[in-house]
Amino acid sequence: MQFSFAFHFLLAFAFLTHSTATLKNKKTYEPTWESIDSRPLPAWFDEAKIGIFLHWGVFSVPSFKADWFWYSWQTKDPEVLEFMKKNYPPNFTYADFGSQFKAEFYDSDLLADIFKAAGAKYVVLTSKHHEGYTNWPSKYSWNWNSLDLGPKKDLVGELANSIRNRTNLHFGLYHSLYEWYHPLYLQDKNNSFKTNSFTMRKTLPELYEIVNTYKPDVVWSDGDWEAPYQYWNSTEFLAWLYNDSPVSETVVVNDRWGGGTLCNHGGYFTCSDKYNPGVLQKHKWENCMTLDLSSWAYRRVAQLRDIISIEGLIAEVASTISCGGNILINAGIRSDGRIDPIFEERLRQLGTWLKVNGEAVYSSIPWKFQNDTISKNIWYTSKQSDSEKVVYVFVLNWPAQNILTLGAPQPSSTTKVTMLGYYDSFLWNKHSSSGGIDIVFPYIPPTQLPSMWAWVLKLQYLDN
Ligand SMILES: *[C@@H]1O[C@H](CO)[C@@H](O)[C@H](O)[C@H]1NC(C)=O
Ligand SMILES: *[C@@H]1O[C@H](CO)[C@@H](O)[C@H](O)[C@H]1NC(C)=O
Ligand SMILES: *[C@@H]1O[C@H](CO)[C@@H](O)[C@H](O)[C@H]1NC(C)=O
Ligand SMILES: *[C@@H]1O[C@H](CO)[C@@H](O)[C@H](O)[C@H]1NC(C)=O
Ligand SMILES: *[C@@H]1O[C@H](CO)[C@@H](O)[C@H](O)[C@H]1NC(C)=O
Repeated sequence: MQFSFAFHFLLAFAFLTHSTATLKNKKTYEPTWESIDSRPLPAWFDEAKIGIFLHWGVFSVPSFKADWFWYSWQTKDPEVLEFMKKNYPPNFTYADFGSQFKAEFYDSDLLADIFKAAGAKYVVLTSKHHEGYTNWPSKYSWNWNSLDLGPKKDLVGELANSIRNRTNLHFGLYHSLYEWYHPLYLQDKNNSFKTNSFTMRKTLPELYEIVNTYKPDVVWSDGDWEAPYQYWNSTEFLAWLYNDSPVSETVVVNDRWGGGTLCNHGGYFTCSDKYNPGVLQKHKWENCMTLDLSSWAYRRVAQLRDIISIEGLIAEVASTISCGGNILINAGIRSDGRIDPIFEERLRQLGTWLKVNGEAVYSSIPWKFQNDTISKNIWYTSKQSDSEKVVYVFVLNWPAQNILTLGAPQPSSTTKVTMLGYYDSFLWNKHSSSGGIDIVFPYIPPTQLPSMWAWVLKLQYLDN
């Protein structure tokens, strides 16, 4: 002990004297929330705005009800009991779904190309959901991982490669801290989390493993709510992630790190699933939402009415970005590895819209108003450079009588109004009573409309 201490001390001393020049600018984070929370969010995240969330796992095999299928079955959800009774022998267990998980049509290049076409800037894949099955060949998930059972592939590694090889999107991983039915977890829980065998032998080794192996730029933590953050050693893990991990400069994390952390500690805030407060937030946040409005997992019984429309999706994007959020758009992946064409269509539609209107989205900042004071379904973003400030107006519905009345923007004599993707500027008048602006939408033949679902006006040289 004595010798080892002295030896390390000498080593550390030698290291410090030689590398202070390179190290002095890098802050070292302590395993406390005060220190962890003080880390500035890497700039790429706020600039990115649009991410894709993928839920994929053994639950994709029944693809019925939701990703909580196993839990619903165990807690005797009548629909799930009926589904099992009708379709499977009585001795069938959840683990038996594992060998039916084949991913036989998994083409990670194709997925990467779709996410790029969608205009997304990052992707977050479930590496492991609450069922405990790992989509990578984890050393800590014996016989319950995608190499040993089911696809016989490294699903995480393939997507990471394709994303990095074919796109400039950031690659991220979702990871559930807890597992519903892991014996060690149940034991710790029974001990009121005074013991932490599960954290030490499963959760932390896995977290270190995925970070070191796949170098994710997002670690999207979940499954934190039953136990306090001390049980999960969250601050210790995050201090390592920020100080010493291979992604210490680029990684961002969310706020689901144990009891008391949601909407309170960590990196950006998610606050609740599908959080979209509609008003400006002080802290960077993310709206994680779903294309299938009632499930994160792929559901074979979903009907068209369950799927968000492109108008609905763009409205969600606009309201989120205006209030300082990022949007993380979820698609459930099928057990065969494919993304359903209805999700592909929604994503590609969003991409065509962003091709025209991305200027108002990527790297934008919230304006002094988030929505309008007079007209409904109007959202604002802005951009500020040394020479000029620009305000963008998301117009979700074409204005009746082609006149849009806005209360928030105060025009000057030189104010210029254009529509992104359209060649000519628009006429406008100062609104007589509000001091706002009335904007005249010209007649535009449908074939010349720059986008089909929502239009973005660019306001230059305003007085406010
Ligand atoms: C379930 O029972 C059937 C016979 O009823 C048997 O053939 C099958 O191997 C059993 N399956 C499992 C997973 O135990
Ligand atoms: C990257 O893509 C190229 C061409 O599509 C392919 O030849 C190469 O093997 C890929 N590399 C990796 C690491 O996947
Ligand atoms: C749960 O804890 C109680 C004592 O608090 C103990 O008697 C029991 O055996 C434990 N059960 C399990 C499954 O660990
Ligand atoms: C976990 O936390 C405990 C107490 O805070 C600490 O002693 C231990 O070193 C931590 N372990 C890891 C692997 O972070
Ligand atoms: C703008 O948003 C605020 C806050 O959500 C809301 O109270 C107000 O009604 C909205 N304004 C319009 C015109 O919709």
